[in-house]
Amino acid sequence: MVQHSDTRPLTHPSHDGGASAGAIAFIGGGNMARGIVGGLVARGVAPSTIRVAEPVADVREALAAEFGVQVVADAASAASGAATWVLAVKPQVLRGVCEALAPAAAACAPLVVSIAAGISSAQLSRWLGGGAPAIVRAMPNAPALLGAGVTGLYATDAVDADARARAQALLASAGATVWVDDEALIDAVTAVSGSGPAYVFLLAEAMQAAARAEGLAPNAADTLVAHTLLGAARMLIESGEDAATLRRRVTSPGGTTAAAIAVFEAGGLHKLVADAVHQAALRGRALAADND
Ligand SMILES: NC(=O)c1ccc[n+]([C@@H]2O[C@H](COP(=O)([O-])OP(=O)(O)OC[C@H]3O[C@@H](n4cnc5c(N)ncnc54)[C@H](OP(=O)(O)O)[C@@H]3O)[C@@H](O)[C@H]2O)c1
Repeated sequence: MVQHSDTRPLTHPSHDGGASAGAIAFIGGGNMARGIVGGLVARGVAPSTIRVAEPVADVREALAAEFGVQVVADAASAASGAATWVLAVKPQVLRGVCEALAPAAAACAPLVVSIAAGISSAQLSRWLGGGAPAIVRAMPNAPALLGAGVTGLYATDAVDADARARAQALLASAGATVWVDDEALIDAVTAVSGSGPAYVFLLAEAMQAAARAEGLAPNAADTLVAHTLLGAARMLIESGEDAATLRRRVTSPGGTTAAAIAVFEAGGLHKLVADAVHQAALRGRALAADND
C-alpha cells in the first residue's frame, strides 16, 4: 500500500485540556528531522505544536528561525507530555537517549516513531523501560529532505489505528509511505529504498562517465543523465505500468536500446543488484546486533 498524501490531522486536541498533549517532539534536530519538520510546517501543522530537542545551539536556533518551532537543548523537556515522539538521533546514541526518556515514557505513554536504522522495536521497548509502548519504526530515505522521499513503516501491536494514522501522516510530509507487517522486512526496506538513492547515484556516475567517453561535454552528459533518471522515474510512477512493460516498450527489437540491454543482461545485472541489496539487508541486521 503506497500513500502519496494523507490529509488526516497530525495533532489532536488534548483529552485533559492540556496544551501539550497533541505535541510532536523530535529528539534530534539533524538532517532527517529538519526534512520532516519542514514538510509538516509546509502542510499546515502549527509550528507551536512541534518541539525539537537538539544539543547543538546553532542547529537549534536555525530550526526555530526557519520554521518557528519550539526548540530546547534537552530531550526530556521536549518529550515530556508530548503525544508523539520522533526519535531522530544516530543509532549509536539512541540507547542512552531512550534510557534517559524512560520516566517520561512511563508518564505519558507516547506514540514513539523511530527513524533510526537498524534498531529493533524490542530494543527500543527495553531501553524505554519495558512494558509494551506503542512503537512505529520508520525508514525514510535521503530525498525526504526535498519532500520526495519514500518511507517504510512498521507498527508494533500496541499501536492502535489512530496512532498508525498519525505516524503515517507524519512521514507522508516527507513523501510516499509503505507499510510492512513484519518487522524483519524493515531491513529489506533499508536495503532497497533507504540505501537506494546511492545505487541510483552510482548508476548516474557510470552513465555520465560513459556519456563523456562517447564524446559528450561534461555539462551535457550530466544533464542528459539526470533528466533521463528523473523522466524514467516519473514514467514509472505516473504511467501505472510496471518497469518491465515500460522497458519493453522503449526497446525495439534489433535497435540501439536492445544492444545495450543485451550487454547488461550478459553481465548479470539482475543477479548483481539482488546480491547487492541482500548484502545491504545483512549489514542492517548486523548493525542492529552491534547496537544491542
Ligand atoms: N539521512 C538519511 O538518509 C537517513 C535515512 C533513513 C534513516 N535515517 C536515520 O535518521 C536518524 C538521523 O539521521 P540524520 O541524518 O538526521 O542524523 P544527524 O544529522 O546526525 O542528526 C542527528 C541529530 O541528533 C542530535 N543529537 C545527538 N544526541 C542527542 C540527544 N541526546 N538529544 C537530542 N539530540 C541529539 C545530533 O547532535 P550532534 O551532532 O551533537 O550529535 C544531531 O544534530 C539516524 O538514526 C539515521 O539512521 C537517516
